[in-house]
Amino acid sequence: MVSKAKVLIAPSVLSADFADLGRQVREVTEAGADLIHVDVMDGVFVPAISFGEVVVDAIRANTDVPLNIHLMIQEPENLLSTFAKVETDQILVHAEACSHLHRTVSRIKDRGNQVGVAINPGTSISAVEEVLPLLDMVMVMSVNPGASGQSFIPQSLDKIRRLKAIIDQAEYSAQIEVDGGVKADWTAQDSVKAGATILVAGSAIFNDRQSIPEAMKGMRGCILG
Ligand code: DX5
Ligand code: ZN
Repeated sequence: MVSKAKVLIAPSVLSADFADLGRQVREVTEAGADLIHVDVMDGVFVPAISFGEVVVDAIRANTDVPLNIHLMIQEPENLLSTFAKVETDQILVHAEACSHLHRTVSRIKDRGNQVGVAINPGTSISAVEEVLPLLDMVMVMSVNPGASGQSFIPQSLDKIRRLKAIIDQAEYSAQIEVDGGVKADWTAQDSVKAGATILVAGSAIFNDRQSIPEAMKGMRGCILG
C-alpha cells in the first residue's frame, strides 16, 4: 500500500467564492494545500465555461504552491502557451480531447512542466496506456467533468486499482490523481487504498458548513485515520 504521508490534497477552486478568490486561495494555501487544482472549461469539451488565463494568473499570484491545471479544453495543444507558461505548474489534458495525445504530452514536457492525462468515467484505461511512461500523473475522473458537487462514481475505485497495477508492474513513475466527488469519507479513504496519491476536492473544502482550515483538517485526518 502507498505510504499515507505521500497523499497530496489539491483543493479545487471551482467551488470557491469567486468574489473573494484571492483571499480563499491564500486561506487554503495556509491551511496546507499541497497543490491548487484549477479547472479550465471551454464550453466545447464540457458544456460549461469556467474561466481562462486572467483568472489562472490571479490564482497563481496568491499562492506559492504549484497549480494543478485541469484543462477541459478541446485540442488543448493550441493553448499551451496560455496555460503552460510557468514551469512549476502541472498541466493535465484529457485523452478524449486530444487528436494527437502523444504530441500534446510531449510538448507540455518540452516546456518543462509536469504533465498528466485525465480520463472520463466512460473512457477505458487503454486510452492512456501508450503515453503512461511519459506521465507524471494520470487522473481518473470520478465524475463526468463539467461541474463540482457531483457524487463520486464508485466504479472509479476499480479503475484506480487496475491503473495502479499497470504502473507498479511496469515501474512507471506516474502518480494517480482522482477528481470528482471526493469527500472526507470512504471516497477519499478508498481512493487512497486503491492507489491514488493526489486527491482533488472542491465542494468538500469550499462550502458553507465549515471553514477552509476545518475542511482541510477533516480531509487530512480522514486520510491518515
Ligand atoms: C469537475 C472538476 C472538478 C471539480 C471537483 O469537472 O474537474 O475538479 O471541481 O469538485 P467536487 O470535489 O465538488 O466534485
Ligand atoms: Zn478538475
